[in-house]
Amino acid sequence: MRQSPLVVVANRLPIDDNLAPDGAFEWRRSPGGLVSALHPLLRHTPAAWVGWAGGTGPAPHLPDVDGVRMHAVPLTGDDLRDHEEGFANATLWPLYHDAVEQPEYHRRWWEAYQRVNQRFAEAAAAAAEPDGLVWVQDYHLQLVPGLLRELRPDLRIGFFLHVSFPPPELFMQLPRRAELLRGMLGADLIGFQRAQAAHNFAQLAAQVLELPATDRRIGVGERVVRIGAFPISIDTAEMAALAARPDVTDRARRLRQDLGSPERVILSVDRMDYTKGIEQRLKAYRELLASGDVKVPDTVLVQVAVPSRNRVAHHQILRDRVEHQVGRINGEFGRVGEPAIHYLTQPFDRAELVALYRVADVMAVTPLRDGMNLVAKEYVAARVDDTGALLLSEFAGAAAELEQAYLVNPHDLDGLKQGLLAALRATPEDVAARMRAMREHLRRNDIQAWARSYLSALDASGSLLRRLTTT
Ligand code: ADP
Ligand code: G6P
Repeated sequence: MRQSPLVVVANRLPIDDNLAPDGAFEWRRSPGGLVSALHPLLRHTPAAWVGWAGGTGPAPHLPDVDGVRMHAVPLTGDDLRDHEEGFANATLWPLYHDAVEQPEYHRRWWEAYQRVNQRFAEAAAAAAEPDGLVWVQDYHLQLVPGLLRELRPDLRIGFFLHVSFPPPELFMQLPRRAELLRGMLGADLIGFQRAQAAHNFAQLAAQVLELPATDRRIGVGERVVRIGAFPISIDTAEMAALAARPDVTDRARRLRQDLGSPERVILSVDRMDYTKGIEQRLKAYRELLASGDVKVPDTVLVQVAVPSRNRVAHHQILRDRVEHQVGRINGEFGRVGEPAIHYLTQPFDRAELVALYRVADVMAVTPLRDGMNLVAKEYVAARVDDTGALLLSEFAGAAAELEQAYLVNPHDLDGLKQGLLAALRATPEDVAARMRAMREHLRRNDIQAWARSYLSALDASGSLLRRLTTT
């Protein structure tokens, strides 16, 4: 196997399972923050990406994509059920998101988690050049840093958690909490989205493993593991360029007409996930329609909710409940040709998504808990004329940066309704001042700045990054 100076290890590969019509593989812009964030970074670098290509059975041999080597890790049906849908998405995902749904603990799932992490660690070890840099991503692979260090002590190893990291009281529920912490501590640098998460982790390292720990450094035997907040971002310039494209502005104009030329368009774009607060938001909207504060067809809501993790029970239940709510609201408040909610479950290409962002007077991003939420940042970057109000949950990582958003607590239904009304009724001057400040923040803090700050902290001497740019 050819080896690379930089290896990204993530649960998913960023490419489609299918060939494009011209026979080439294409980058998959899957609806998920991790792929969206890393995709613009790696193109045209001599990096490798180790990940699962979707499906079960033997790993496919994949061609390089834009100069990036693709190493597929195979998963069996049992791995998919017990690692992916089990320990990753039915134990860790709910636990890390404030246990808004009950996390499940099964010993069989833990065995699968260990087995699959071992497989990823071996694939990463085979893909990395001597003294190379390996960057492990997210909650599916928390044991990989430790396993990889055993296999390849020569490597510099980074770990970045894209989701939030819970307070100790919640994390302590995990039957295998010590092993998970030790796995992460195999890294040289552990990055989180928010400073609070690094603080939680340090407390746990001290409490569970009895290690000397501050919010910046943890002593592990002879080694010092650094920890810190590195809030992830988006390709701001790409988003702004797309938003300014004439075909995208035309498309936005047509979308507005197709929506019945309302005075106000509210938009939400989520994966169908119980952390996103879709039910609470629909309830708030319904109450505003019932009280007459919001009227159809002057105002319409466009809810995009692309199905996700369809085989996980909580996700199936959520979809049914959301669709029931949407049907009920449209039945009660819509008219023929004038629905109160335009409900879409399709994945869109970037241009269509940006056209939707451009059409939205209010973007409602109200998760119950979210590591960052890139949709909020994408919306801001797409509002190149400084119009548009962002309604944002305090519990999204993005709220720590986008302070000028209309911030709400999505658990507080009245607060949510007031926030939505405030955003709908805001003056153009107020909206523009807030949007300008948020856009300026994203211009300075884009995805390149994020990667630079993380990788230069990991590669303190700069030697690996130099190797990467000169290869
Ligand atoms: P999460 O990572 O939990 O899914 P984020 O908001 O951080 O949440 O990231 C979601 C990413 O998926 C964004 O880049 C967004 O543009 C993309 N996305 C969401 N819904 C769709 C959709 N229907 N079609 C295409 N991309 C989508
Ligand atoms: C979040 C997670 C990612 C994950 C994505 C999509 O962004 O942090 O690791 O890839 O959701 O979820 P999926 O289960 O489809 O990979």
